[in-house]
Amino acid sequence: MIENVPVIDIAELESPISLDAIDRACREWGFFQVTGHGIEPALLRDVFDVSRDFFAQPADEKRRVQRDVDNPWGYYDRELTKNRQDWKEIYDFGPADGGTLKPRWPSGHLRLRFEPIMRAYYASCRALALRLLSAMASNLGVSASRLVQGFDDAHTSFLRLNYYPQCRPSSGDERPFGVGEHTDAGALTLLLQDDQAGLEVCREGRWHLVEPTPGALVINIGDMIQVWSNDRYRAALHRVVTNLTRDRYSVPFFLSPSYETTYAPLPTTITPECPARYRPIQWREFRTLRAAGDYADIGEEVQITHYRT
Ligand code: OGA
Ligand code: NI
Repeated sequence: MIENVPVIDIAELESPISLDAIDRACREWGFFQVTGHGIEPALLRDVFDVSRDFFAQPADEKRRVQRDVDNPWGYYDRELTKNRQDWKEIYDFGPADGGTLKPRWPSGHLRLRFEPIMRAYYASCRALALRLLSAMASNLGVSASRLVQGFDDAHTSFLRLNYYPQCRPSSGDERPFGVGEHTDAGALTLLLQDDQAGLEVCREGRWHLVEPTPGALVINIGDMIQVWSNDRYRAALHRVVTNLTRDRYSVPFFLSPSYETTYAPLPTTITPECPARYRPIQWREFRTLRAAGDYADIGEEVQITHYRT
């Protein structure tokens, strides 16, 4: 039997049918796709348009907005996943924090379109991600505010443009991954993918393609929800395989809390038979350790299992 990542219509997100479907998808896959999410198709098209225009620029122009250790927003083409270089280029947009973090914008006429579209899409993703998080709070038996409180103005969420150029390795070379297998570190991720397949999710030891579905967004839970749920939900391993003949574009939005947030299994998930499986984790510490591994081989990359009790 071929099984696919479930596609859920969330036009009535708070209905028992939607909530049950989400609970089941979180338990069985850690992944689902949503339709009826309310983000305008025109905005989704605009995001892909500006992403293509951005990556089509000359390498020098892209390097002008390259990220660095003090300010991670901007362009990068040498990211590592678990110490192996990914076959991709990225551009990250996150808000200014009044300190060293500021968006880096492309220059000239591209910026005129790029900046408002990125800001509009970021705002739409944030609102939708918080609605989904509230639904998951309800499924985990806590109030929405209990989970959403760490995501006020100081949240650290960001939007990423991924560009996976077609990849023809010379014969004999190991084929690289667009992104090597990993789980996402934050609360949850909303991903817009184009019509080129490539994203795969691991379920019960087997890799399944996340079928491109026009107009849908792919949702996956991150390590943080795994911890809150005390392993009722698992952040699924996923990866991107490279395409031999076509370029691929995707746009994840990573919902992450403020650095001050500490998270631990919710009281509603703890029973005498199932005690808390994680000690409290500080987002600042976990995020910082994980991000360090994106730049350089610093030894084994930190994983959420290091926090198991
Ligand atoms: C990621 C990721 C999947 C994709 O950027 O964390 O898993 O399809 N991307 O680009
Ligand atoms: Ni990911």
